[in-house]
Amino acid sequence: MASCIDVQYVSKSYGKTVALDDVSFSIPCGESYALLGPNGAGKSTTLRLLVGLLKPDTGTIKIDGHEPFSPEAKSALGYLPEDATPYRTLSVRENLEYIAALRGVKDVTLATDRFLDELVLREYERAKVGKLSRGNMQKLSIALALIHNPKIVLLDEPLNYLDIPTQERVFKMLKSLQSTMIVSTHIMSIATRLTEKVLMIARGKIVWNGTIDTLKGMEVGDESIESVVARLMTGAS
Ligand SMILES: Nc1ncnc2c1ncn2[C@@H]1O[C@H](COP(=O)(O)OP(=O)(O)OP(=O)(O)O)[C@@H](O)[C@H]1O
Ligand SMILES: [Mg+2]
Repeated sequence: MASCIDVQYVSKSYGKTVALDDVSFSIPCGESYALLGPNGAGKSTTLRLLVGLLKPDTGTIKIDGHEPFSPEAKSALGYLPEDATPYRTLSVRENLEYIAALRGVKDVTLATDRFLDELVLREYERAKVGKLSRGNMQKLSIALALIHNPKIVLLDEPLNYLDIPTQERVFKMLKSLQSTMIVSTHIMSIATRLTEKVLMIARGKIVWNGTIDTLKGMEVGDESIESVVARLMTGAS
């Protein structure tokens, strides 16, 4: 099966801080993975490398067979950064229309209206982003990442700031995508609801890679899946 995301022997440091240490993984086209790890594990760094915002110190990354910073990779990718901020002086609708046009969406108005409705942003469509609540800004940022129906979707903690009904809407929207997807999270229940596979990262290393079903099979007695994950992350057997 073709790999849409291929990472081989990648390391990345910020000054003396080693954020990623010899990381390798490969994601076949069409599969969804949760990138699960505690604070500071290297999740956001991994996603920033995949979208070409950072360059690895060593190792190689291929997005749909291309270098991450190439035009081919950029047009294949949809990315929600951690703490995303859309254009603050534009309205919600203007942000959607502008990004849709830049991304080559054929029917900009149709795509804009669809996301306004699906994410319940209609009442804010004329509001300037600078005046939105953090949750509504996050909804708009998710829409901006997905508006061009990207082949490969990378979302850094997409459910941050969202209320429970909105989380449910976003779950539904992400589950319906045909794209190859990585969703970073430190919350196991988000991983289990969104994907069947998990890449677990701790202290800059991939500590586990497999299916959620396999993880469930590793529960001992009445142990919870969170406890299995904690064991794997701390290296305890
Ligand atoms: N711009 C930066 N400058 C220096 N160090 C950084 C920078 N960004 C991240 N780091 C360090 O790199 C390591 C990995 O950080 P990263 O943001 O990738 O983790 P994360 O898994 O996304 O964490 P979180 O769950 O808190 O978002 C941490 O030790 C962090 O302090
Ligand atoms: Mg992060």
